[in-house]
Amino acid sequence: MSLFARIRDDMNSVMERDPAARSRLEIFLCYPGLWAVWIHRVSHQLWRRRWRLTARLLSQIGRFFTGVDIHPGALIGRRLFIDHATGVVIGETAIVGSDVTMYQGVTLGGTGKGHGKRHPTVCDGVFIGNNANVLGNVTVGENSRVGAGSVVLADVPPNSTVVGVPAHIVYRNGERVLITDPHDVKDPLSDALIALSGRVEELEKQLGGEARSMEPFTVEEAERAAYREELERRQYVSMGEGI
Ligand SMILES: CC(C)(COP(=O)(O)OP(=O)(O)OC[C@H]1O[C@@H](n2cnc3c(N)ncnc32)[C@H](O)[C@@H]1OP(=O)(O)O)[C@@H](O)C(=O)NCCC(=O)NCCS
Repeated sequence: MSLFARIRDDMNSVMERDPAARSRLEIFLCYPGLWAVWIHRVSHQLWRRRWRLTARLLSQIGRFFTGVDIHPGALIGRRLFIDHATGVVIGETAIVGSDVTMYQGVTLGGTGKGHGKRHPTVCDGVFIGNNANVLGNVTVGENSRVGAGSVVLADVPPNSTVVGVPAHIVYRNGERVLITDPHDVKDPLSDALIALSGRVEELEKQLGGEARSMEPFTVEEAERAAYREELERRQYVSMGEGI
C-alpha cells in the first residue's frame, strides 16, 4: 500500500469512528493522534534500519508536537486512532493490531520488572478508554474494551469489556459477568473479602433455616436492570461513543 493510500485509509477510519469529524481536511489538520502514528511509521523504519538514535530523536520530536510518546520499536498495525492524543505512551515491545482506538492518557507500559517482551499486545479492534493503563506482557483479545481509568494487569479474553483497578471482566461475548466469588476479586483487599464472606457463610449456617436462600447479588442485579431500563426510557447519552 502506498504512503498516500495509507494516509487516506487512516483518515477514512477516523471519519467512521469519530462523530465530531466533519471533513478529511479537518482530520488532516486537527488530529495530532494521526500525526503521531504517521511520525511513528517513519521512526519505526529508521529503527529497523538500525538508525536507532535518529529514530528516538524523531519520536521525541513527535512527542513534543503531539503529546504521544510511541517508542520507535513498537509494532503498530493499520488504522490506529488515538483520539485527543495527549499523554499516550506506547512502550518499545508493545504490539498494537489493526483498527484499535484509544483515548488520551492511555499507557501501554511495562511493569518495571521484566526484560525482553515486557509491554502489552493489543489485538485487532480493541477500544481503550481514556487514562487506562495496560501493564506488562499481557494480551488484550480481539474486539475487547478497556474502561476509562482501568488498570489491566492480566490477559483479557476476546470480545470482553473490562473495568476497574485492577481491571475485571464485566461483559464477555455480550453477556454480563458478575463477580459472585470473592476469590475472583484480584486486588489487595481480596483476602479481607474472602475472610468476610467465610464469616458470613458461618453465621448463615448458625442461623440455619432463617438464612437467606437467594443467589448472591440477585436483588442487586434486579435493581440495576430496573435502573438501566429507566435510563433508557429517559434517553440519557451513553458514555464511550465518540464523545
Ligand atoms: C468500559 C465502557 C466501554 C463500558 O461501556 P458499556 O458497555 O456501556 O458498559 P456499562 O455502562 O453497562 O457498564 C458496565 C458496568 O461497568 C461499570 N463501568 C463502566 N465503565 C467503567 C469504568 N471506566 N470504570 C469503572 N467501572 C465502569 C458500570 O458502572 C457498570 O457497572 P454496574 O452494572 O455494576 O453499574 C465505558 O464505560 C467506558 O469506560 N468508555 C470509555 C469512554 C472514554 O474513554 N471516553 C473518553 C472521551 S474523551
